[in-house]
Amino acid sequence: MPNRQIVLEELPRDRLGPEHFRLTEAERPSPGDGEVLLRTRYISLDAANRAWMQGATYRAALAAGEVMAGGSLAEVVDSRAPHLKPGDLVFADTGWQDYSVLPAKRLSPLPDLKPLTHLLSVYGVAGLTAYHGLLECGRPKPGETVVVSAAAGSVGSLVGQIARIKGCKVVGIAGGAEKCAWLVDELGFDAAVDYKAGEVRRALRAACPDGIDVYFDNVGGDVLEAALFNMALHGRIACCGAVSQYDGAAPAHGPRGVPGLIVTKRLNMAGFIVSDYADKNAQALADLQAWVGSGQLKVLEDVIEGLENAPAGLVGLLAGENRGKRMIKVS
Ligand SMILES: NC(=O)c1ccc[n+]([C@@H]2O[C@H](COP(=O)([O-])OP(=O)(O)OC[C@H]3O[C@@H](n4cnc5c(N)ncnc54)[C@H](OP(=O)(O)O)[C@@H]3O)[C@@H](O)[C@H]2O)c1
Repeated sequence: MPNRQIVLEELPRDRLGPEHFRLTEAERPSPGDGEVLLRTRYISLDAANRAWMQGATYRAALAAGEVMAGGSLAEVVDSRAPHLKPGDLVFADTGWQDYSVLPAKRLSPLPDLKPLTHLLSVYGVAGLTAYHGLLECGRPKPGETVVVSAAAGSVGSLVGQIARIKGCKVVGIAGGAEKCAWLVDELGFDAAVDYKAGEVRRALRAACPDGIDVYFDNVGGDVLEAALFNMALHGRIACCGAVSQYDGAAPAHGPRGVPGLIVTKRLNMAGFIVSDYADKNAQALADLQAWVGSGQLKVLEDVIEGLENAPAGLVGLLAGENRGKRMIKVS
């Protein structure tokens, strides 16, 4: 069986479009000693996929002509490593293709959970990012006000719900009145601010009259600036990502208020990468499972069928089409 692959044909200079990708076919690879052959089941679509095209981050930059990089839930088909056997599920950087061969040493089998897709959403990078970023960087206390941006997305929708579970008042920032109403009506947020309607600073002031104690920042840029001006004394900002700056030419300068507001309000602003807290994943997964089991945490998944639809799926995610975790079902 051939190996369908989606190649990043050209690096985008401005906005990403489906024309930057090409579907091709290659031979199915074979594993060598210490390697496994993986069949991709679900590809995780992430805002970071676009950031990797801008240059080296916590991983190497992507280059034109390579198979598009991306994390997937994959099944072991053939193993030349003792700790993995055919049928095992792993999370791996397979790239956007049907089959891949990877060294087995950094892969570990995942539990066979139902539904499988939860391994990419709430029990995967999104859930762990929301949990650790909020609780370790944000350190919310009951009764405090927590604000999260990209609030209807995969990480943001979980951050807001976890903050509610921890007894906080939660305000989400998202694009469009309909999404904002959905955050309040379906996910139990206390309020939501539509950043596309403008006047974000004023809308946040109205929604958070006592100031923001914790801001979980997924977007950077103007929205971060609006939050900075509304922070309460001794507030914490968890810098998770900057999706407003991933898809386009070089971002504008800013935000204003740095470092002045950080000094006068005694703010603590900290960046993190989910793997920083890997030693706390067992507790995180136990808590997330308990909250999902009790119905306190709703898991939102947006599954698109077909490898060939991955480029349009990523372009759509950057435009805000998704609610919750977007992924591609490959096989
Ligand atoms: N630090 C870590 O370890 C880590 C790990 C995973 C993810 N992340 C970060 O988490 C954030 C969310 O990523 P995700 O993959 O879960 O994506 P996502 O939130 O599911 O989707 C991205 C969302 O961003 C919003 N958005 C797009 N352009 C925007 C803009 N210019 N201004 C404001 N919002 C915009 C869109 O919703 P609207 O309709 O609301 O615009 C879109 O739905 C990203 O910043 C990502 O880099 C960090």
